[in-house]
Amino acid sequence: MDHFLYRDGILHAEDVALPDVAAFVGTPFYCYSTATLTRHFTLFDDALSWGPHLICFAMKSNSNQAILKVLAGLGAGMDVVSGGEYARAKAAGVPGERIVFSGVGKTRAEMRTALIGGIRQFNVESEPEMRALSDVAVSLGVHAPITVRVNPDVDAKTHEKISTGKSENKFGVPISRAREVYAEAAALPGLKVVGVDVHIGSQLTELEPFELAYRKVADLTRALREDGHEILRLDLGGGLGIPYERTNEAPPLPTDYGALIQRTVGDLGCEVEIEPGRLISGNAGIMVSRVIYVKQGEDRKFLILDGAMNDLVRPSMYGAYHDIVPVVEPAAGTEYTKYDVVGPVCESGDTFAKAREMVPLSEDDLVAFRSAGAYGAVMSSEYNTRPLIPEVLVQGDQFAVIRQRPTFDEIINRDTIPAWL
Ligand code: LLP
Repeated sequence: MDHFLYRDGILHAEDVALPDVAAFVGTPFYCYSTATLTRHFTLFDDALSWGPHLICFAMKSNSNQAILKVLAGLGAGMDVVSGGEYARAKAAGVPGERIVFSGVGKTRAEMRTALIGGIRQFNVESEPEMRALSDVAVSLGVHAPITVRVNPDVDAKTHEKISTGKSENKFGVPISRAREVYAEAAALPGLKVVGVDVHIGSQLTELEPFELAYRKVADLTRALREDGHEILRLDLGGGLGIPYERTNEAPPLPTDYGALIQRTVGDLGCEVEIEPGRLISGNAGIMVSRVIYVKQGEDRKFLILDGAMNDLVRPSMYGAYHDIVPVVEPAAGTEYTKYDVVGPVCESGDTFAKAREMVPLSEDDLVAFRSAGAYGAVMSSEYNTRPLIPEVLVQGDQFAVIRQRPTFDEIINRDTIPAWL
């Protein structure tokens, strides 16, 4: 459930009418709902209330500091994957002891920054990384708290580009070799083993792959304890999917996911960490765009919007589906027509949807892309020198611009012309 609903025939974000926001910031723009973010975070929090836990929001899904502040205020930790995300989390006021650092290619500089600034744990993904981290920690005279991310060789049954738990993927160390890797970790002078980490993929629409992976993690935890390691935490990753196509998708609920975690690892007495991104931020955001032209092609109609693949890349990158709804509610009984919904960028890949059934739309009408709060703004670019679009946060009847649209001058002035030109 989200808080983007029609009221008096106009799509609202909570109590704010979207045409009012469009008049204020121009289009296209992203708009987020505080109530929806809060609701989704609370669903996870309740689902894990049977034991000690920390929900580390996967910032890669949405890293605007205002969003981080909303979630941190509810008690969230953060899952970061770069020095930049770490800096953002800190800037938003998240304490180091609530930040976990994931990713296959952490640099020594990033390790250093996090060790100095404070970190809950590094989720280490390889032996070379482990050795580098130990060196950095020793040079600073500290111990780096670590989990090892294990690759359980489980098929997440999701899009190949966002599946991470199969042995062919670049992530984690094979679970079959985990005991050796932990033995080496324990012997390295700069590390302190605190737990086990796993993440098998994103946009999972079934619980079974989680169940298979978590059972393997539970068995591994028992084996590692027999080997003498202190396993205090289990980081079970993110990945629970959301309904993009609302009419015919019903992914599992956080409650059932929480019960599954309790069933598979609950008896181990560990603190449970999870790293959800999409389920918290996805349906808490929309992208609003305006129709520039309706163009009649030979055998189809094109709805040409002012939003494009550089603003929301998921459809062209993954063939992802996003609901596109008119901001003015159609009258009951309005007949649908079909559009290819496209942006102005100069390549055919700049297509949001083909032959999409929609109510008839005209120039200047506003449309909203649903489920755009995760992997939307964060994956946008300035391709075609199109400025990054503004982000707006709504709470009740108030809204604020939480990222401004840059001016052309700001964009252009980032280039430097060499003196010899
Ligand atoms: N933890 C780790 C280690 C991850 O790699 C990810 C996502 C998450 C947590 C959060 O997963 P979530 O709960 O959001 O599914 N750009 C793609 C999604 C990439 C996901 C990458 N890793 C998309 O737009 O679908």
